[in-house]
This record gives sequence, structure tokens and C-alpha cells, in this order.
Amino acid sequence: MIQEKLMKTLPVETPAANIEADAIVVGMHTDEAMGPAMSELDVAMGGVLSRLAAKEEFSRKTADLTRLLSPPGLRTDQLVVVGLGHRDALDAATMFRSAGAAAKLLAGKPRRRVAFCFDVPWSEEVAEAAVCGAAVGVQGQDLYRAERKLHPFGEMVWRGVPPGPLATGAVLGECLNTTRRLVNEPPSVMTPVRFAEEATRLARECGLEVEVWDQSRLKDERCGALLAVARGSSHPPRMVILRHNGGRAGQAPLALVGKGVTFDSGGLSLKPTDAMKTMKCDMAGAATVLGTLMAAARLHLPQNVVGYAGLVENMVSGDAYKLGDVLTARNGTTIEVLNTDAEGRLVLADVLSVAVDQGAGRLIDVATLTGACVVALGTDVAGLMTNQQPWCDELIEAARVCGESVWQLPMFPEFGEQIQSDIADIKNSTEGRWGGTITAAKFLERFVGDRAWIHVDVAGPSFAEKPKAWLDAGATGALVRTLVQVIRRMP
Ligand code: BES
Ligand code: MN
Ligand code: ZN
Repeated sequence: MIQEKLMKTLPVETPAANIEADAIVVGMHTDEAMGPAMSELDVAMGGVLSRLAAKEEFSRKTADLTRLLSPPGLRTDQLVVVGLGHRDALDAATMFRSAGAAAKLLAGKPRRRVAFCFDVPWSEEVAEAAVCGAAVGVQGQDLYRAERKLHPFGEMVWRGVPPGPLATGAVLGECLNTTRRLVNEPPSVMTPVRFAEEATRLARECGLEVEVWDQSRLKDERCGALLAVARGSSHPPRMVILRHNGGRAGQAPLALVGKGVTFDSGGLSLKPTDAMKTMKCDMAGAATVLGTLMAAARLHLPQNVVGYAGLVENMVSGDAYKLGDVLTARNGTTIEVLNTDAEGRLVLADVLSVAVDQGAGRLIDVATLTGACVVALGTDVAGLMTNQQPWCDELIEAARVCGESVWQLPMFPEFGEQIQSDIADIKNSTEGRWGGTITAAKFLERFVGDRAWIHVDVAGPSFAEKPKAWLDAGATGALVRTLVQVIRRMP
């Protein structure tokens, strides 16, 4: 709500050279002369830009930046020229990155007012992505640094961006930043109880219905798998349920289920230091679900959506769950525990069955579930697995429109055979490690009944160890935009 006020739109007729701002951002395609905004600036600058362009001084690759200080004849201290790649290839991903990179560069110092004057055809998706990219580009992970490295602007003005997409992009940016902040908070701060408190406060602010299940309610609800993971921690578990009733009464809601392991030490199957040091990110799925529900509420989307976050900390203690334990999940399935580090699927098992029992029409779960998914797809691509292809195709299309990277993995029945157990119905970890992302999904599939379901493994893209030109390192907010798009495209 704050962010929207900081975003202003200027009509295309506003002469770029008249814009008063601390900085002006313009874009340049690889295969084209200057657009109208840049040409106006060029005239006011006495042809400086065209001279530099002729000498190929501007790097025009997507998100590449060239900075001109004190440009003559303009009412600004600096001009940033950002590359937009090939004109025909211009899409949401390009604009998210290019606008984000320019914004991040300029956020290196506090600025009152920054103007964006891109000469691009503003489709709804491209405009939203640009505004959202800039809003997240200025926000860093340095929550606890006395001297922040990035400083959000006093205000942003966007020449030519229609007010609708401008406002939507600002809301998306703010929701992504909320998701990012929750993930970036240290694990001893963002415990299950604290996450539930923050979610409650944020949900109320934007008009979501919210319900929190504490440990005794989780016991009453027979969430034996989730509770087993929680047992090793002195921080009690929670389940958060968020409802956005934007659709017809009686329309079966879409359920979004998030893995919320606020810290994953691995439990008794303890992780080595290197693997453990980023494991505050293991609640990114839950934070993604919260960010998405907040956006659905604030954008008044005309659909029914319920968000579920399963919140636990995976730790070691004298009472921690053990290898060889047999758990009974909420839906009655018995599970042999062979690796306490395969905890995410145990948490999700119970949360998925709650969603099913509460009448979900379709399901999507989002989870930092397997390192194997990072091996398979790298750090920037989310893995998709489904039990219903047309439903998965909708998410793939939504991701394409927003410019987020997803890739589907097969759910061949053979993978399901690997989770058979000798003592219980299934086991939480397989003999070999090959295909670990898919065997994990096969495990989850046992808890979704007959509902159309997509599993999104975000172990790679949800958290970045190194910064990008357009986004600081740390939490990324990956998939929030795609999930909002999925909701918007639902009947
Ligand atoms: N939270 C991890 C997966 C993960 C790895 C997330 C890297 C983000 C980055 C998950 O709980 C886990 O530990 N998975 C195990 C599964 C294995 C024990 C079957 C893994 O990937 O090693
Ligand atoms: Mn784990
Ligand atoms: Zn985990």
C-alpha cells in the first residue's frame, strides 16, 4: 500500500527532457536506433547520445548498464542507459531484469525521485514485470547492516506505463519483497511461531482470513508426520491457513501449500556445514504462498484461493525423530523414516491432506524439497511434477508470460516403486539418490487424493548465493509472480 503511492505514471507526451528527477533511465535495443524518449533527450543534450551510440559506447545486452553523469541540457543529475536485447525478443523476463538492474545500480545511494522512460510497447505483462523488477531491485538482503547497501527510492515515475499495470506491478513488487524479507530473516528470528505471527499481521492488513493451528490442534488433527519432524526442536510447530474468498461462494478453491521448515539442520542425519549454512531458506515455499495470497487479496482477484504453510524447525535433541521410526501421517499412510533430512515431504504430506480434506479443487505445492533438483536444473529453474498434464500446462504458460523459468520432470510409475518400504506403506528416502526430485514428488503424490496437483521444487531458484545485476543475493521471491498469474488465469 505504501509502495503504490511511491509509483507514479507520466503520460507518453511528457517530454523526457523536461522530467525533473535525480536520475532518468532509458532503454536501448541491440538492433534499433534510439527510441522516441532517448531521441528527445539526445536533442536536449545537443546530440551527445547519438554520437556515443555511433561509437557503440552503449552496451545493449539485456540488463547491461551505461551511466552518464551530469548530462548537459537535462533536469537530472544522471542518465542510465540500460540494454534491452533484441527488440523482437522483448518479454517480461527482459524487462524485469533490465528495469531491476538500473534500479539496483541507482539504489546504491538514497534518491528522491527516479524516472523510467522506456520506449517499449507496454503490454500488461511487460509493464508489470518492469515495475515489479525495479521494486525488488532496490531492496537488498542487508536487513541487519548499519549501513545499507541499497536504498529504496523516494518515488519512481514511469513514462507511458498505463496506471493499471503500474499499480499491479507495484503490488507484486511489494509482495515479492515481503516473501524475500521473511526468507532473509535469520532462522532464530523467523521461527514457526514468529512466521505465524507475521503471517497473521500481514494477512489482516490486506484482508485475508487467517487461521493458525498450534501444536495441540495439530495433534487433534493427527498430523503425525509433521509433528515428528517438529519434535527435535524447542520451537513448537504451526500451520497457517490463509483464505482469499474472491470467487463465487461454493467454488472449490485453489490450494497453495508451502514447505515452511524455518531451519533445516538435517536432524540426526545432520547436514555438513556447507550444506546447512543457507538452510534458513527452507521456508521459502511457505513465504511464497504467503506473498501470493497477499497479492491475490490486494489485487482483488476474482477467485477462491487458500494458502497453507506447514511450519516446523528440523533440529536435533534427545527427543528428535529417529532413523527407523515409523510415522502415521494424517491420511493413515505409514512412513518409515530412513533419513531425517528428507523432512520436507513429511511436513507436506500432512499439509496436503488437510488441503484435500478442506475441499481444495486443485493443488499446487511449493517447496525447497531436494538438492537433486538443483543438480538437475541448476540454480535458476524450478522443477515441476504433476498428476494432471493440462493443469501443469497452465502453470507452464503462466510462468512463460511472467518470464520465470520452470521445467517439468517426468512422473513415470517406476519412480514410485522406489519408495516402497518393507515395514511401512512407504519410506521417506530411497536406496539410491538418482532421480531424487521425482521420488520425492512420488511420495507427495500419495497425499493429494484424486485432485489435480502440481509440485514445484524451488530448491534452486528461491535463494541466490551470489547477487545478480538486477537482484541482490539471498531470497529471490521466485514463483510469486507465476502463481499470481496462475490464479488470474483461472476461470
Ligand atoms: N531442504 C533440503 C533441500 C535443499 C537443498 C533445499 C539445497 C535448498 C537447497 C531438503 O530437506 C533435503 O535435505 N533434501 C535431501 C533429501 C535426501 C535426504 C533424500 C537432499 O536433497 O539431500
Ligand atoms: Mn532436509
Ligand atoms: Zn529441507
